[in-house]
Amino acid sequence: MMSLTDLGVAIIKLLPPEAAHTATIRLLKERLGVPVNPPATHPTLAVKLPKSGLALSGPVGLAAGFDKNCDVPTAMSKYGFGFVECGTVTPKPQAGNPKPRLFRLSNDKAVINRMGFNNEGIDNFVANLKAYSGAVPLGANVGANKDSDDRVADYVLGIESVAPHADYITVNISSPNTPGLRGLQDKASLEALLTACGAAERVGKPVFLKVAPDLDPEAIADICSVMRGPGAWLSGLIVSNTTLARPDSLKSAQKGETGGLSGAPLMESSTEILAAFARELKGEFDLIGAGGIASGADAYRKIRAGAHAVQLYSAMIYEGPGLAERINRELVRLVQADGFTTLAEAVGKDL
Ligand SMILES: Cc1cc2nc3c(=O)[nH]c(=O)nc-3n(C[C@H](O)[C@H](O)[C@H](O)COP(=O)(O)O)c2cc1C
Repeated sequence: MMSLTDLGVAIIKLLPPEAAHTATIRLLKERLGVPVNPPATHPTLAVKLPKSGLALSGPVGLAAGFDKNCDVPTAMSKYGFGFVECGTVTPKPQAGNPKPRLFRLSNDKAVINRMGFNNEGIDNFVANLKAYSGAVPLGANVGANKDSDDRVADYVLGIESVAPHADYITVNISSPNTPGLRGLQDKASLEALLTACGAAERVGKPVFLKVAPDLDPEAIADICSVMRGPGAWLSGLIVSNTTLARPDSLKSAQKGETGGLSGAPLMESSTEILAAFARELKGEFDLIGAGGIASGADAYRKIRAGAHAVQLYSAMIYEGPGLAERINRELVRLVQADGFTTLAEAVGKDL
């Protein structure tokens, strides 16, 4: 029989995508249908990220973009996610791009978005961070305002504002929807950014850099060399954000929309880029894999490709918030079938 949550998800899916998202956040704010306690997690899945020291009860996190203003992290922490990331937040509030800017590619189990960092600004975000009462680590993902004349200063302000209240911080330089933002991944710009963002001692919390999947081998090598230099204080990488690529396999009419593509068609390419970083970084940094995860098998592939933990967003649009718990159950079976006692033993096994 359909659960109340599944019924809610089915009804919400009848709305246009952004209206569905707004309605979902409203319902979660009211705690409607939210479990009182998170599902029990299996000890097999407990993992400690080696460099950051982040201790997770399970490896599956909620990716940034679902809860841009940190409105509902406590509610989202009850669905089986091992960690929850909010943002991207910018120093000043901004409206983002004109609507429509979010598209379901239902036939491809994918999404295209060109939201453009719509958010209510850092002061509102920090107030919400302070109210978090969930049991899993909470991440704060920071970005730069579109009209900023000093983007590096925006990141520094973001990091310093959220650091006292978040368990980790993500520096997002890979959104394709803020013109020029991805240019911060270039070697000289990244050196300047990571030097300005300062040493971990100053920040006091683990900091991850979130990168795009649209990187060639030279760009990957450059990022790794900056991480070993001015970025040595970083905890690691989140690989990856959405892609500008449009695989030939896409069937949906909306495939021509401008923006970042996420969901199932991103699984393959983002996992390849993750593995490339894992090979290059040789365990010196923590890696969080994201892109196209919709099952335990997908999450496990990323872990075997070098991810210590994973995140998802798009598949939840199709499957509902119960997906995290289902993935956890599948992961336990996969880990045990391979003869491992803990998930951590599987990290990087396919490299
Ligand atoms: C509607 C939407 C909005 C997003 N907004 C953000 C964002 O603000 N910051 C960010 O770092 N990533 C953002 N992302 C990217 C996701 O966090 C994730 O990296 C990407 O979608 C790949 O994972 P998925 O295939 O499981 O969705 C967004 C994704 C979607 C679909």
